[in-house]
Amino acid sequence: MSSTPQVEVHPDKQTLSDAAGGRLLLGLVDAQERHDGPVHLVLTGGSMGSAILTALGALPGEGAIQWERLHLWWGDERYLPAGDPERNETQNFEALFSSVPIPPSNVHAVAGPDTSDSVEASAESYAAELLEHGPDVFDILLLGVGPDGHVASLFPHHPAQRAEGSSTVAVHDSPKPPPDRVSLTFETLDKARQVWFLVAGADKAQAVADALAPGADRWDVPASGPKGEELTIWLLDADAAGRIGDAGRY
Ligand code: 6PG
Repeated sequence: MSSTPQVEVHPDKQTLSDAAGGRLLLGLVDAQERHDGPVHLVLTGGSMGSAILTALGALPGEGAIQWERLHLWWGDERYLPAGDPERNETQNFEALFSSVPIPPSNVHAVAGPDTSDSVEASAESYAAELLEHGPDVFDILLLGVGPDGHVASLFPHHPAQRAEGSSTVAVHDSPKPPPDRVSLTFETLDKARQVWFLVAGADKAQAVADALAPGADRWDVPASGPKGEELTIWLLDADAAGRIGDAGRY
């Protein structure tokens, strides 16, 4: 079962980030209330992936989050060593997690070349981590969207999209640097109660329109693929929303 995408538009990127941060606080507290045990959050890289965390950290209600229950996963990671400033994990930690008491064992980071032999080995160990510690269904899954319509590290017309029977995939020749990455597969991106797309900027407007167009194909527009079981929401600024209803680039 999957939900029909909803769209929420904010006037500018800062307003969008602040609103998304508030929504994330409420979403995490709601997940804490609705079930016992770990709350599983899937994070994203890119500018919005950290902007939402910075906004969350600035909220007075941030103390309501039970950090010891929160488990962090990544929709994708750039295959770079731990601590590299270009890693999604590093950027997300700088934005929020280095200043909150989250237990290190709750951080399910993707191995880089410092701790794995290859991108394939890293993808396999991330899949094993998911199997051992992951949920049946993530509570909230965050996704940025590229101007080409990519999500996580699943790019238009890239063979990594076709990975089947596995929760993760090794990605080579990514059109967005760096070329080597590890991504969740579509199969895994679909296992979330809530999927939130976070998108700002006019350069994303066509990708947003194409992803929301009826009949969009994820091979052409990967962002049209993931749907939350209960909620799929596109959180946009006005620039990114500017071409909704104006699909047909492909
Ligand atoms: C990455 C990200 C990627 C990102 C989008 C949007 O590793 O680069 O995971 O999927 O979320 O490219 O990035 P921006 O928000 O910076 O445009």
